[in-house]
Amino acid sequence: MAKIIVNGGCGYIGSHTTVALQNAGFEVVIFDNLSNSRLDTLDKISEITGIRPEFEQLDCTDKQAMQDAFSRHNDAIGVIHFAALKAVGESVEKPIMYYRNNILSLLNTLEMMEKFNIPNIVFSSSATVYGIPDELPVTEESPLRPATSPYGQTKIMAETIIRDTVTANPKIHAVLLRYFNPIGAHPSGKIGELPIGVPNNLMPYITQVAAGIRERLNIFGNDYDTPDGFCIRDYIDVNDLAEAHVAALNHMIKKDVTVEIYNLGTGHGLSVMELVKAFEAATGVKLPYAITARRPGDVPAIWACSDLANKQLGWYAKTPLEETMRNAWKWQKNVSGI
Ligand code: NAD
Ligand code: WQD
Repeated sequence: MAKIIVNGGCGYIGSHTTVALQNAGFEVVIFDNLSNSRLDTLDKISEITGIRPEFEQLDCTDKQAMQDAFSRHNDAIGVIHFAALKAVGESVEKPIMYYRNNILSLLNTLEMMEKFNIPNIVFSSSATVYGIPDELPVTEESPLRPATSPYGQTKIMAETIIRDTVTANPKIHAVLLRYFNPIGAHPSGKIGELPIGVPNNLMPYITQVAAGIRERLNIFGNDYDTPDGFCIRDYIDVNDLAEAHVAALNHMIKKDVTVEIYNLGTGHGLSVMELVKAFEAATGVKLPYAITARRPGDVPAIWACSDLANKQLGWYAKTPLEETMRNAWKWQKNVSGI
């Protein structure tokens, strides 16, 4: 069985990807410092797949700890690097913390891949690298825009660091996956997104309102230049997203990849109100909401062209929105004990 190191594998996207990797026959070892996740995620993963992933509790910014762990797992054929801090607002308040965590963890990973001859890296990039796009949908060729937050900058920098590393060392192969807006949870309801404190993102806010944890959803602006005035995003089911990582690895194993970039979205934009209505329709739960001021820095509309991932990786976003909504609600009910 091919072994994959999953940095940040206890997190939201990493845990779903671990499930997908195990189901596809890969052996997974997770490196995570649990700064934004819980140890019992390992139990949940093994309840779902019947296999408990190996686990190394470590901070990817700690070079010695990384060297020790990589030397124990130097038979791995690839790394998926999820480990990062991701709260956009917090990154504006604490830029050094974000640059240190997100950049140093990647540098250590690349250095250890070189040292231990581990050839493949799949990196979690983001649609944030496109800023406010001129044309929709965005393709991988769309221009990158300077990000408005240190978090976004770390993604642009990380992409550059990986490209330069691959140019200098052709033994390293990289796939950069630009996620649009991941939502939902595993159909079992055992793993999902675990926001700490007040959620920044729309979907966990919606499910917390539905669970009665928050009084109402504040919808940030209804005066955008979009058909219904609300912001538009491309919401991608987290299980579909997870499958894309398996597809990327299989692609790298079969083909001589240097650096390849893929947008991961559904190809369809949904407005905030359309998402709210979809949640209500799928769950039967009514969501109290209020329209409030625009959130500074919000992109009015963005959605992906994922044709390249469809064609080259054979990957498609498959999960119907209704199912995604039901899974998100099932997970929230489990977490809240409803
Ligand atoms: P998450 O916070 O749920 O998962 C990240 C995991 O990495 C956590 O388990 C955390 O404990 C761990 N981690 C963070 N820093 C670490 C370090 N220095 N050493 C070891 N472990 C560390 O986040 P997520 O939503 O699963 O996101 C995964 C990746 O995808 C991140 O790189 C994020 O920037 C990127 N991404 C996320 C979204 C999104 O909306 N969720 C969108 C685009 C890109
Ligand atoms: C979606 C829509 C809000 C909350 C962020 C990061 C981005 C990426 C994904 C990592 C917007 C509206 C939200 C609320 C609302 N992460 N909204 N009320 O802004 O597309 O992207 O997460 O890379 O980098 O910036 O996602 O979920 O925050 O917002 O009305 O309480 O929901 O205005 O239109 P966003 P989001």
